[in-house]
Amino acid sequence: EEAQLEARFEARIDEGGFIEAKDWMPDHYRKTLVRQISQHAHSEIVGMLPEGNWVTRAPTLKRKAILLAKIQDEGGHGLYLYAAAETLGTSRDQLLDALHSGKAKYSSIFNYPTLTWADIGVIGWLVDGAAIMNQVPLCRCSYAPYARAMIRVCREESFHQRQGYDSLLVMMQGGTPEQKAMVQDAVNRWWWPCLMMFGPPDGESVHSAQSMRWGIKRISNDELRQKFIDATVQQAQVLGVTLPDPDLKWNEERGHHDFGAIDWDEFWRVVGGEGPCNQERLGMRIKAWDDGAWVRDAALAHARKQATKEQA
Ligand code: 3HC
Repeated sequence: EEAQLEARFEARIDEGGFIEAKDWMPDHYRKTLVRQISQHAHSEIVGMLPEGNWVTRAPTLKRKAILLAKIQDEGGHGLYLYAAAETLGTSRDQLLDALHSGKAKYSSIFNYPTLTWADIGVIGWLVDGAAIMNQVPLCRCSYAPYARAMIRVCREESFHQRQGYDSLLVMMQGGTPEQKAMVQDAVNRWWWPCLMMFGPPDGESVHSAQSMRWGIKRISNDELRQKFIDATVQQAQVLGVTLPDPDLKWNEERGHHDFGAIDWDEFWRVVGGEGPCNQERLGMRIKAWDDGAWVRDAALAHARKQATKEQA
């Protein structure tokens, strides 16, 4: 019986089909999806914090409104993704407990500080740009609830990238020399951590082989990273900033840009909790959880009262 179910699952995956929440699936498939989708959701929620740092200091009302809209979108992305993870049988409390206890990961990129207003534009341009690269293939992930969540997320991400790039263009084309220097400084600080967003090199990726066989990961870490670099070089030229990699240059026979070595020690240090802002970010999430306890209790008490009223 189990063998038949497994065979049917594998056949569906092999023909590029999709798995719904009620379909039979191997435990390992379920586990790795809970791992990835919940970490993706945690990334969205933690990702609200670096940008939240600049809402009160946005230079104009228009930029403040745009930033608020983007941060609100990220919260919504977290919601879709927690909901997708819950369809696999893990409760929201378990997922959040894993984050707060330091067991679950979230994207390393959000452990860096946002030091100037230019960081907000660079996050939109580069961080959301990298996120789009990584999230578009997930729209075809074999687990259908995840794929559907991604389709909505990707539509909103393109606004995120556009608004970031636009705000940098304004500073680079009309700004003072100090503003231009501020943009270049932000690019220098965010470029390499953005390349790390795509994950370790394929040869050191513990999940890639299995995730690609199961149609969870459609394009490898290194291939997406290369695609991101190739697309961004052009945009940097239009913007008038230089990317902080002296080895970055077009390689005609590869048809791609060669680029310098990534500091994987830094990557694993940040992933392991030793980044510039890991403690601060996790502390903020735990504080938000504790401060929100009364809201959850009140909502649950109200729901119970409603339920007993209905039964009466
Ligand atoms: N930050 C933190 N951990 C990372 C990481 C990163 N940038 N890249 C890899 N890792 C972790 C993996 O989670 C895994 O650890 P685990 O077993 O404890 O989960 C380990 O490093 C080995 O990496 P693998 O490449 O083998 O792991 P994956 O196959 O899961 O690939 C991934 C890593 C490409 C990030 C994949 O998990 C993925 O595509 N996740 C969903 C997309 C996502 O999370 N995107 C980034 C954040 S979303 C965002 O940017 C929001 C936007 O609005 C700004």
